[in-house]
Amino acid sequence: MEFRNLLLEVSAGVAQVTLNRPKALNALNEEVFSELSSCLDTIGQDSSVRVVILTGAGEKAFVAGADIAFMQGLSALEARRFSLMGQEVMNRIEQLPQPVIAAVGGFALGGGCELALACDIRLASENARFGQPEVNLGVIPGFAGTQRLARLVGSGKAKELLLTGDMIDAREAHRIGLVNRVVDRAELLAAAQEMAAKIAAKGQVAVRLCKEAVNNGLEMDLDRACRYEADLFALCFATADQKEGMAAFIEKRGANFIGR
Ligand code: CAA
Repeated sequence: MEFRNLLLEVSAGVAQVTLNRPKALNALNEEVFSELSSCLDTIGQDSSVRVVILTGAGEKAFVAGADIAFMQGLSALEARRFSLMGQEVMNRIEQLPQPVIAAVGGFALGGGCELALACDIRLASENARFGQPEVNLGVIPGFAGTQRLARLVGSGKAKELLLTGDMIDAREAHRIGLVNRVVDRAELLAAAQEMAAKIAAKGQVAVRLCKEAVNNGLEMDLDRACRYEADLFALCFATADQKEGMAAFIEKRGANFIGR
């Protein structure tokens, strides 16, 4: 598939999506969102894709936010439309059947931080910087940053970042649980590929159900969420992968999963 603002490469069950507007530090506008949306549609329907890596082109940025030049002249109604469009893409990432790993090399600010937050796992390079600087522009985050940031790092830390607009480095982002792991810039994509390959080798129904269980369970009370988990657990017993995985353990050999 050809895009103006994205690169899509699929290899060995891993799709790497690279936001590719390095001159604007990969800033997000309507065209980028509409391309991301169709790219995610394609990936979501492709059962050969087991894991997705989302990253930004260039050395400087993952994504430096929503495109400020684009937003500057928007009316209130246009701004609402843009916000809903961005939120829909973030939701689509969160609800994609496959796990999505954000490989953040450089700035992840505003909409860029929100994009990383919508992913399942975040790896950051040493030079990565995170922040929600919208208050510096007289606005608030519009792609669900006020919600996902607070859910991930707690409301106190989230409010500090949202209200001050301060940037934090990769170490601090790791300390507060905003990123899973920090690696050298040169090793970022290799680390993401390594993690993707590890996930891609597991039983894929189980991988997808894990993602679903966490995402949907967090929206329920604990009682209902645990029942929901039991139903998904039971569903695994209808798969060839459960039979293979458990037989392989008993027979002391590696499992050969077929993904159903
Ligand atoms: N939108 C549009 N263009 C952007 C951009 C953005 N968010 N961020 C950077 N750029 C552009 C710059 O305008 C510049 O373009 P020109 O070369 O044509 O002048 C180019 O990218 C390189 O940027 P800088 O020269 O500014 O690079 P720097 O190294 O000096 O600074 C930076 C890097 C600290 C990331 C700085 O670019 C910056 O502060 N960017 C804006 C960050 C921001 O405020 N993001 C939040 C946006 S609001 C939002 O996202 C709302 C929402 O949730 C819906």
